[in-house]
Amino acid sequence: MEKEKYLMNQRRLRTNEHIRDLAAEVYVSHKDFVQPIFVDESITERQEVKHLTGVYSETIDSLLKQTEKDIAAHVTKFLLFPIPIKKEDKDFNYDFAVSATEKIKSAFGNSIWLANDVCLCSYTVHGHCGILNQEGTKLLNDETVKTLAAYSLQLAQGGSDCIAPSDMSDGRIGAIRNSLDSSGHNHVASMSYAAKFASSFYGPFRDVCKSTPNSNIQLNNRSTYQLDFRNTKDAIASALRDAHEGADILMVKPAGPYLDIVQTLSTTTNKPLAVYHVSGEYAALESLAAQQLGERSLLHTEMWTAFKRAGADIIISYAAREAKGWLR
Ligand code: PBG
Repeated sequence: MEKEKYLMNQRRLRTNEHIRDLAAEVYVSHKDFVQPIFVDESITERQEVKHLTGVYSETIDSLLKQTEKDIAAHVTKFLLFPIPIKKEDKDFNYDFAVSATEKIKSAFGNSIWLANDVCLCSYTVHGHCGILNQEGTKLLNDETVKTLAAYSLQLAQGGSDCIAPSDMSDGRIGAIRNSLDSSGHNHVASMSYAAKFASSFYGPFRDVCKSTPNSNIQLNNRSTYQLDFRNTKDAIASALRDAHEGADILMVKPAGPYLDIVQTLSTTTNKPLAVYHVSGEYAALESLAAQQLGERSLLHTEMWTAFKRAGADIIISYAAREAKGWLR
């Protein structure tokens, strides 16, 4: 039927660039991005990360130089991962992380926004995100939370703009909020890794941070604290709980496989929502590009657009530095 044919024409909206732009529902801006940065106490010169093309482990000095370049290129929001030399069971020393924070914030002040990842996985001998019992069979939630709150306070004193706990212990958002508020740091925000799944996509990151859980102990993966990837309800409940405890920003991690969670959270909370396009997701796209099976910028921008379409406000990507050039 003629009438039906007319109703079925969806292609008019795709005729040319002009109408496609007008019909486009989302635009991604370089302003949406956070660049993860690694600073490693054990190196004396910056090193390219083996499995993450274009990503470097920095010394504090090289980080300061890189940040200067970044600011000039309009890259101003960062998530800092410290890699301390010394690994312990408990009684960790945060001086390196605090000193990196102090130096970068005293050099660049409010021309950057610095979030600090807060977790113990790069501090512990066993690679877990918290303190374990003697037998190495379970993570001690409350001891871990207390430790993270004390660590967060030191980072806030060092000038951090935002504390981003990635450990997945219960109650850490509230404990960190209390510790910041009761010490005159109520202006320091928190970004919760709220829906963080026990994922196989963290491999390259753990290699850089030397934080793969030790396979010789009974607890040899993170499934007792990170989310089970079969579940939506636990993810939403955990995120809403963190919002209730005072998280300013909620994050879903990894990003691509969990867009259903992003979409649900974007309609159930009023908090800004971040996604972390993690190391394994980044490396997968880079590997396609390296084999000339896809264009690097198009692979990444397609993923980024999907994040925004699902409802994300903030994108944490190892390619954040490219965003300005690619999203013109
Ligand atoms: C753990 C932490 C992880 C990442 C950031 N913080 C993963 C993990 O080992 O569980 C992963 C980031 C990435 O893969 O890019 N505190």
